Amino acid sequence: MPARPPERTAADLLTTFGAAPHQTPRQPPTSAKRGRVNRPTAPLRGHARPGHGWSPVLAPLPVYQASTREIGGLFPLLVASPMPAVGARIGYDVQSGGAFYCHPVEWVLRNGLATNPNIAMFGEPGRGKSSTVVAFALRMLNFGVRTLISGDVKGEYTPVVRALGATPIELGAGNHARVNALDLGPLTARWDTWTVRRQRDELSSVLGRWVQLLAALAESQRHPPSVSDEAALAAVLRRLVGASDGYTRLRPITIPDVHRELASPDPQLWRDLRYESRHDFLHQLRPMTDALANLISGALAGMFDAPTTVAIDWDAPVQSMDLSRLRSRGDTAVAVALTCLGAWSSLATGLRDDGDIRIVVRDECWRQLRLGPRAVAAIDAELRLSRLEKIIQILVLHKLSDLYSVGATGSQAVAIAKDLIALCSTRVLFGQSTRVADDLADALALTGPEHQRLTGPVNERRGRALWKTENHPAHLVQTVLSSFEKRLFDTNAQLRPTAGRGGGVGRSRG
Ligand SMILES: Nc1ncnc2c1ncn2[C@@H]1O[C@H](COP(=O)(O)OP(=O)(O)OP(=O)(O)O)[C@@H](O)[C@H]1O
Ligand SMILES: [Mg+2]
Repeated sequence: MPARPPERTAADLLTTFGAAPHQTPRQPPTSAKRGRVNRPTAPLRGHARPGHGWSPVLAPLPVYQASTREIGGLFPLLVASPMPAVGARIGYDVQSGGAFYCHPVEWVLRNGLATNPNIAMFGEPGRGKSSTVVAFALRMLNFGVRTLISGDVKGEYTPVVRALGATPIELGAGNHARVNALDLGPLTARWDTWTVRRQRDELSSVLGRWVQLLAALAESQRHPPSVSDEAALAAVLRRLVGASDGYTRLRPITIPDVHRELASPDPQLWRDLRYESRHDFLHQLRPMTDALANLISGALAGMFDAPTTVAIDWDAPVQSMDLSRLRSRGDTAVAVALTCLGAWSSLATGLRDDGDIRIVVRDECWRQLRLGPRAVAAIDAELRLSRLEKIIQILVLHKLSDLYSVGATGSQAVAIAKDLIALCSTRVLFGQSTRVADDLADALALTGPEHQRLTGPVNERRGRALWKTENHPAHLVQTVLSSFEKRLFDTNAQLRPTAGRGGGVGRSRG
């Protein structure tokens, strides 16, 4: 029988793969009892002398020096995560096994891991997007970061809000809550404390948002507003709010007020806007006026066109606006509601003065994008303000084509929609079909291995996603939900049999 070759040492192995490693000479063991190698050389807690800690092997240790090329061969599983361990602990990095944390604001501040704190999530239905949002929001509470769910179409977040002791704002059938889409919000209370210059700046920013909002709403009624329509809207809004009377006091206005001004203009208005006659004004602006009339009398009548009766509770850890009762009124109604709420909550969020970081979640925002280019422009404007207003905006979408459904290929609307991705430094990519994954890989410039993970390992479990921040390598992360979170946010509850004891956890809406 041939003799067994002698075992190779680490030094031999390294020499095989590259240059001979430099090794510090190892001192022969001084112990009298040679032969045994597993004998402790120190008491359990080490020698009670400086520099003599616990030592499981003979000291001094052999030290090798080699380049990372060879060391990579020797310790193939060692990977350090470049993401800082700060913020919400989401779960674990599937490849390294290390914990994965997310704090988008810190990512902006540290090492330029991201350029803005916004997050875009993509994934097929049921992959765990909303669950990851809940986990993130709950865990960011430890850092004093509170969350606003700007339109919860399915009412999924309601149990979470209630479990935290807050009351969600519920809009829709059988509920008397009203939100004025043109609410002045905290602006009225602060008005007197501001300088004239600040008043002018704040007001023009609010008027600009309102024009965008009304234009988006008109577009939802299949009337794309022209530049002249927008000019008329701006003039009407300024007059109604009292901005043209020397900024004394702001008057509250509603959409029916705007409609009334357009439907029966006073001579000063049409002259100021350079129309030839009252008839000319009415004729030119008829489509815009009718679009607003449809909103007032349509499926959302009374909901966004009357004075606000609810207030955002800024002290609530998580606050949401539940739109689940609106679903029966159709997709357009839901999309219009999301747009109105987005405008209302962004005004309120932008003007709060606590200086805290806030998370604003736009779940199911693909519904809003379908309203048209103006709705996209409204979201675009919010995303651009996030750093200034200390807001982490989270957009939840299904697929990339949600962004392209806003207009014809190559149109300006599609260009703005594509820009939305650029305004979200962090992209969280959940499981997708191969075709959608190909689109995403293309648009987000994923590398080959990242693309492969998107069609493979990402699909292995719910809550698994590729987290990618701009030009940094992606991390395959598994969101880990606690049993409490799973119970609280079980969006599959309605699919489980409820009869008998075998029934699942039913979500209570009460
Ligand atoms: N990380 C996870 N671990 C275990 N279960 C999960 C995880 N993520 C999600 N789930 C479960 O999967 C189900 C669907 O999750 P979720 O509602 O978050 O999906 P979604 O992607 O938001 O779907 P949709 O696009 O329809 O809103 C829920 O019942 C949730 O409890
Ligand atoms: Mg969801």
